[in-house]
Amino acid sequence: MSEKPSKYYVTTPIYYVNDKPHIGHSYTTILADVLANYHRLLDVPTHFLTGTDEHGQKVQQAADANGITPQEQCDQTVVRFQELWKRLEITNDDFIRTTEPRHKTVVQQTLQELFDRDEIYKAEYEGWYCVGCERFFTEKDLVDGNCPECNRPVDKIIESNYFFRMSKYQDWLIQYIEDHPGFIQPAFRANETLGFLKNKELQDLCISRPKSRLAWGIELPFDADFVTYVWFDALINYISAIGYKSDEEQFKKWWPCSCHLIGKDILTTHTVYWPTMLKAMGVEMPQSIFAHGWWLTGRTKMSKSLGNVVNPMDMIDNYGVDAFRYFLIAEMTLGQDASFTEEAFVKRYNADLANDLGNVANRVLNMISRYCDGKIPAASGGGFDTALEDALWKETVAAAEEMGTMIGNMKLDGSVSMVMSAVRKINVYLQERAPWSLAKQEGTEAEVAHCLYTAAECLRVCSALLYPVMPEKMLALRTALGMADAKPHLGKLSEFGVLIPGSEISQPGALFPRIEVKKADKNVEQAFQPARGSKGQTGKSAPQKEKADGLITFDQVMNVKLKTAVVLEAEAIEGADKLLKLQVDLGEEKRQVVAGIALHYKPEELVGKTIVVVANLKPAKLRGEKSEGMLLAASIGDTLKLVTVEGEIGPGASVK
Ligand code: MSP
Repeated sequence: MSEKPSKYYVTTPIYYVNDKPHIGHSYTTILADVLANYHRLLDVPTHFLTGTDEHGQKVQQAADANGITPQEQCDQTVVRFQELWKRLEITNDDFIRTTEPRHKTVVQQTLQELFDRDEIYKAEYEGWYCVGCERFFTEKDLVDGNCPECNRPVDKIIESNYFFRMSKYQDWLIQYIEDHPGFIQPAFRANETLGFLKNKELQDLCISRPKSRLAWGIELPFDADFVTYVWFDALINYISAIGYKSDEEQFKKWWPCSCHLIGKDILTTHTVYWPTMLKAMGVEMPQSIFAHGWWLTGRTKMSKSLGNVVNPMDMIDNYGVDAFRYFLIAEMTLGQDASFTEEAFVKRYNADLANDLGNVANRVLNMISRYCDGKIPAASGGGFDTALEDALWKETVAAAEEMGTMIGNMKLDGSVSMVMSAVRKINVYLQERAPWSLAKQEGTEAEVAHCLYTAAECLRVCSALLYPVMPEKMLALRTALGMADAKPHLGKLSEFGVLIPGSEISQPGALFPRIEVKKADKNVEQAFQPARGSKGQTGKSAPQKEKADGLITFDQVMNVKLKTAVVLEAEAIEGADKLLKLQVDLGEEKRQVVAGIALHYKPEELVGKTIVVVANLKPAKLRGEKSEGMLLAASIGDTLKLVTVEGEIGPGASVK
């Protein structure tokens, strides 16, 4: 690490309790955990905060849909987050719920103070509101009349509300971001915020909701007819949890926050609302706000309505916690989007964990068992040529130093791959040194011992470096290496000779048993590969011919993109008695589809149906009407029935 900080305070966004956690939530939390673990190993006083955002319209709506009170909704869902964090070995020091009195009190005190200082005022508001994003937009903000953030329809709203004088901080904020290059990271996100601030007049922020419209929130201390806007309430968690206005000593200990980790979806709220709020409150700015990218399923955005959300519990059940944590950290380059496919997971698992790390650990432990009586041998220190051992040790220590720098620069994927390359070097070294051949010769005990001690020491260093990512497995490995105090301390890393000769080693079993990809799964693996590269695993790109037996290949089936679509409108086409013109919602877009079903369905019967559409069909014109897709129907004789989808699934879900 370039420079060891005097303390480290890291936060995740607090998650909405309208639904169960998914891989995106897991990712930010695992990322924070890895950073917290790493700083703890450096003996840096560390505080790691996560929690849940329990107010606002989303939670209210979820409660209504489930027929329970909002508080019940919170109490039931928060447990799912807490349970998942336990299973994911998350080591948060605190968990804040915004319905807790310790938070509500601080929000109300802050509001009152700002109101008393005229930072908050009441006014009539007229504008557009997006329920999904819980944000107001001006007419100019809208894109094709829809929400500029999520593209969903917005509602026109006219009402009295309270406003925070955010606009007056516009110039200050621009200057602050420009003067503090590390404040918003990665740098391109800082530019994004600056672009927004420089090209648009910042509006004052509406920080209230009338209770008549939304009762679920923290009541304004100066007007009981209103509750606090959920974002104004939620952002304050970062300071209410560490004693702002309740425990000044604690607050001073941790604030300013070292790093607010967020997803790119909540950049504006964190880089515009939050800094201006803090400025008005007279509180120091956080040191950095880091926005990571999205986990996509293949190339598609993960979303509940598309039905392609990865459930972290399933991954843990199938492959284990540590492997899941490792994959997420190794696969995503911080700042950019990354693709999640189970195939990519298995590939990386087998390559890095089973073949490299697991294999090296097994080899070293087995050879110590066989050639050294199951005890850590003593490094003789030489008397023979130790150039290979010296080089290996040097490279391992260099990797440790480089890893620190990379973590300091938030290059976590790079830091992990650096350690993996150090692991591979142990394997290469063993291959070259061939202790199994040495052991067959007379009088080579000291050499064999020196060789295996060096390999074990290098493995010890690598296991310490990987501990923040895979705590359980690395503890198991270190215990197997005979360490009484298996928990690593990065301070001791570069010392050679930490493993105590004579300590008994143990066999932890296969740390990362290889995942066998069944033949059938291999097809799936190849078919889905283009999501990660352009030509797929086989590299074949030539069009495949239909086989003489009339059968088509799996790949050919996969080339047809079938999606669910909801029929929004349907009408007859003049002069074409067999055709109907449908407007359908495909999740991320709306399309017109012309279908020959007029003799079987009346237009009004179709509206609201969830049908299946070939989504990657070349558009065509039928009777002068554009048709962008084909719907699926089953027909026999004179009967035709549309293929519809059973149960609750939104538009845009892929049909396989
Ligand atoms: N409650 C607000 C945050 C308030 S913080 C003061 C919120 N909650 S959320 O439940 O919607 O969680 C958003 C966060 O979850 C994202 O910022 C990101 O950290 C994580 N992710 C959710 N989906 C994601 C992906 N598909 N990929 C990566 N992370 C994403 O917004």
